[in-house]
Amino acid sequence: MCGIIGYVSERDCCGALFEALRRLEYRGYDSAGIAVLGEGGFRVCKKRGGVAGLASFYAEGKTGIGHTRWATHGAPSDQNAHPHIAGKIALVHNGIIENHAALRAELEGEGVRFLSETDSEVLAALVQKYYRGDLLAALREALSRVEGSYAVAVIAEDRPGELAAARYKSPLVAGKGRAGLFVCSDIPAVAQEAEYLAVAGDREFIRIAGGEIGFFDGGLRPVPKVFFRPEGESRAAAVCGSHMRAEIAEIPRALQDTLAALGKADLAPCARALRSAGRVFAVACGTAYHSALAFRDALARDAGVPVFCYSAGEFRYSPPLVRAGDLVVAVSQSGETADTLEAVRLARGLGGFVIAVTNTPGSSLAAEADFTLAMRAGAEIAVAATKSYNCQLLSLWYLAAELLFFRTQRYPSWFSSLKELPAAAEAAFSLFPEADRLADLFKERQGMYFLGRGEDVCTAREGALKVKEIARVFAEGLPAGELKHGPLALVEEGFPVILLSTQRRLAAKCENAAAEVNARGGYTVLLSQYEDVLRQSRARAALRLPVLPEPLMPCVAVIPLQYFAYKMCLERGLDPDRPKNLAKSVTVE
Ligand code: G6P
Repeated sequence: MCGIIGYVSERDCCGALFEALRRLEYRGYDSAGIAVLGEGGFRVCKKRGGVAGLASFYAEGKTGIGHTRWATHGAPSDQNAHPHIAGKIALVHNGIIENHAALRAELEGEGVRFLSETDSEVLAALVQKYYRGDLLAALREALSRVEGSYAVAVIAEDRPGELAAARYKSPLVAGKGRAGLFVCSDIPAVAQEAEYLAVAGDREFIRIAGGEIGFFDGGLRPVPKVFFRPEGESRAAAVCGSHMRAEIAEIPRALQDTLAALGKADLAPCARALRSAGRVFAVACGTAYHSALAFRDALARDAGVPVFCYSAGEFRYSPPLVRAGDLVVAVSQSGETADTLEAVRLARGLGGFVIAVTNTPGSSLAAEADFTLAMRAGAEIAVAATKSYNCQLLSLWYLAAELLFFRTQRYPSWFSSLKELPAAAEAAFSLFPEADRLADLFKERQGMYFLGRGEDVCTAREGALKVKEIARVFAEGLPAGELKHGPLALVEEGFPVILLSTQRRLAAKCENAAAEVNARGGYTVLLSQYEDVLRQSRARAALRLPVLPEPLMPCVAVIPLQYFAYKMCLERGLDPDRPKNLAKSVTVE
């Protein structure tokens, strides 16, 4: 999705805007732009391509806005890049204006000429239409005409030192940094420099003026806010060359921090909610959905509680399933994924008790849930989720164990081994040289499968997702039993099949899949913690995983696969932090 930034500084803000955009670039990298308000009015630079394209631009001025784009309306181009200028107004926007066509026709009828195909330029023209010297009032009036979602920031040519912003369904924060007062789409982008910040709620407005930040409700009445100091982003990326590689390296530390935080969490409200819960649901998207599958497996296996696990985008359009008192666990790294948020709103509207498992305690999801279990993966910048997945698994297992304890007064046998996860994750790094070799071997392949059974299915799906996202190779993650129901048709000489076999009760069944693949000339790679399973297998390559209780194996088995995807990406000459067409936080439907 797009990233927006706005500054009102005591000195020139151009450099700070550029730096913030570089940090926001994971939200979109189709095009980028900056508008600075100086002595002679706006100076604007906007270009198709990444933020680096703005590096040579400099303009004097203390008030400015910037944008990095993930195109929705209108192709990536210089014209469609933000900021959009309309008369005295410069605007940056993240979200979608759904009634833009009708508004555009109305404004064109009034003589407005548009330069871009974007819905956002329509909003800029609308603000200009209502602007009579009061920027916040004009923004409010313009937004009252708008259907859709937005995080928007505007500045006016005749109001230096002032900025107005608003949000609806797209995240927005405001705070004070070394370079001045700012609004921004995301906490990680400003975490290192922010002295304090606060999160805007839906339909709230922000005004920066006179050296102060004010938050307002829809009627422009002041809203009191709790400001906080965010945690700084890891600097490991500079050492590792990419955020994704750095974030894989951080998995042990992230697990350790999450364990510490979980130990302090009081889950009694969740346990009470489970007491009255008729049923349990889990909703999430992408990688988070795969961790929800692991939660489902754990509660079913250890507590005999079935969990209805839904992709959030499906859940919100399914018949209304939740009944009053049902427990709904929503998992989201960012806490801003539109489908997950809508699923939560729906569930709460139907009377469900929502537990959010998120890496972002200041997120919309945390604000809307009944209870938040905050994991401590640290800022995750790479588009492809890695360390947050490991921490989601840990947090969800912890939650499942607490719920089980509540029901039976005993913890599952694996509970005490959760503390071994950080060391086991680190031990899994020893598999990277073998993953290097496989990435080299498979780099030209057009497709591959990841197979597993039982608790390994979530790992198979996550491994395939990583390869798709980052290496841009078709990959499918499947229950191994599905192989002969269609997928086997594609297996031919050298076709890679990554097979997970960490559950002893299912090892023989997994070996059947290896035999079926081998018989067609496919190249099977087996991952297991069991020496005998690896030795007796007909797989052509074997990766010996660190030993943990079987229910916890997904947390370590995925690590060589995350790294494998990363390495495949490099082998194919691609940028791991910028997968094609994707964005870190999908804040539009
Ligand atoms: C996007 C990202 C994925 C992520 C998914 C859900 O698609 O590219 O990596 O898993 O959103 O994100 P969330 O923040 O809700 O976990």
